Amino acid sequence: MKFFVDTADVADIKDLAASGLLDGVTTNPSLIAKSGRQMLDVIKEICAIVPGPVSAETVATDHKTMLEEGRKLAKLAKNVTVKVPLTPDGLKTCKVLTSEGTMVNVTLCFSAAQALLAAKAGATFVSPFVGRLDDIGQDGMHLIGEIMTIYRQYPHFKTEVLVASIRHTQHVIAAAKLGAHVGTLPPNVLRQLFKHTLTDNGLKAFLEDWAKTGQSIL
Ligand code: E4P
Repeated sequence: MKFFVDTADVADIKDLAASGLLDGVTTNPSLIAKSGRQMLDVIKEICAIVPGPVSAETVATDHKTMLEEGRKLAKLAKNVTVKVPLTPDGLKTCKVLTSEGTMVNVTLCFSAAQALLAAKAGATFVSPFVGRLDDIGQDGMHLIGEIMTIYRQYPHFKTEVLVASIRHTQHVIAAAKLGAHVGTLPPNVLRQLFKHTLTDNGLKAFLEDWAKTGQSIL
């Protein structure tokens, strides 16, 4: 499973990229607004830090303008993935950008039917939002299972399932069990994956015992 981080905070991205376990980045208009920076500058900077796919989202709702925005974003760096919404205009734009060799992430997916359309439009990634479905009393992870089952029936589909709107580590584990290709994690959730109290306690005890020996390895 690939791990992307869902943020436009460059300091967080630099820190997490240093782990060597970061495969990509996703941003959205809300995350760009939160960063307080110019979108084009921040996307260029992120692309230089992380060599994997970096999602940059269009904001137009009509095909013509969305395509123009997508083409402009795609020119920023080779690893830009243009993010378009799961609407008829978004899917039309996805088809054109894909045919031009640009990676496309179809976002705001909330149903298996929508995911099927994204694959037919040739999306590189489809982003089903699990947390937002959970928030309204539905089962976000059930949707991931459905999409994985459908995509497996059609081996010619190249679209990867990018689990989005992840809220906690259990979402990540459940998505991995279903074989989802990618998870985009908020920085705090990505950091939590490393954590276990028994790891911390065990390391502390080992180091205390080691100190008693008076030895050094180097
Ligand atoms: C995905 O690409 C989105 O940026 C993101 O995962 C949305 O998450 P949220 O529901 O926590 O805003």
